[in-house]
Amino acid sequence: MKRLLVATGNPGKVREFARALIPEGIEVLGLDSLKEAVAEPEETGLTFEANAMLKAEYYSLHTDKPALADDSGLEVDALDKAPGVKSARYGGPGLDDDGRNRAVLEAISDIADPARRSARFRCVLALAAAGRTIATFDGVVEGRLIEEPRGPNGFGYDPLFFHEPSGCTFGELDPAAKQAVSHRGQAIRALLEALHSGDSRLADLG
Ligand code: IMP
Repeated sequence: MKRLLVATGNPGKVREFARALIPEGIEVLGLDSLKEAVAEPEETGLTFEANAMLKAEYYSLHTDKPALADDSGLEVDALDKAPGVKSARYGGPGLDDDGRNRAVLEAISDIADPARRSARFRCVLALAAAGRTIATFDGVVEGRLIEEPRGPNGFGYDPLFFHEPSGCTFGELDPAAKQAVSHRGQAIRALLEALHSGDSRLADLG
């Protein structure tokens, strides 16, 4: 597989895919490579896996390349695992990343004990061709939410997410260090391992 449509409009995700896949000799095509603009599918799935598959299958019908979609998000234990699959929309329409970070902090503002501010990022990648999912890969990383955003790097909830083994938030990690431990980094490594090990599911992808 030398060329891949990375089926996401999220620039933070595109950067992370490009950083991991280009050195592996995989040409990363964005949604802007499609001959005509395609409306985003509605993410109606109840799980990260369902939404990743739905997006990969949808976009694979608009390209002759394999399509890779990512569905990911933050689960906060004190919020019964919200925002979860609704991470991109938490707090209502019209919010940017900063606004969503504020909304999550507000929702757990009465919890001071760091042990009760536990959270995790999850990521599921789905690879599809001609409308059918070929394989999925996933990753998860545990952390906790601090009280104020910290760090200029990454995107989304990264500045809130304190990763104990790194001793800082994902917003404070440089991109390579985040990739080494993150949910998306794990899922991408599982995809690359499948490719390098000659996984028969990926054999027809060219
Ligand atoms: P999706 O496009 O429905 O998968 O939305 C994913 C949302 O989860 C993003 O918009 C972010 O808010 C959040 N998210 C997923 N991965 C990350 C990450 O690596 N760092 C920070 N936030 C993330």
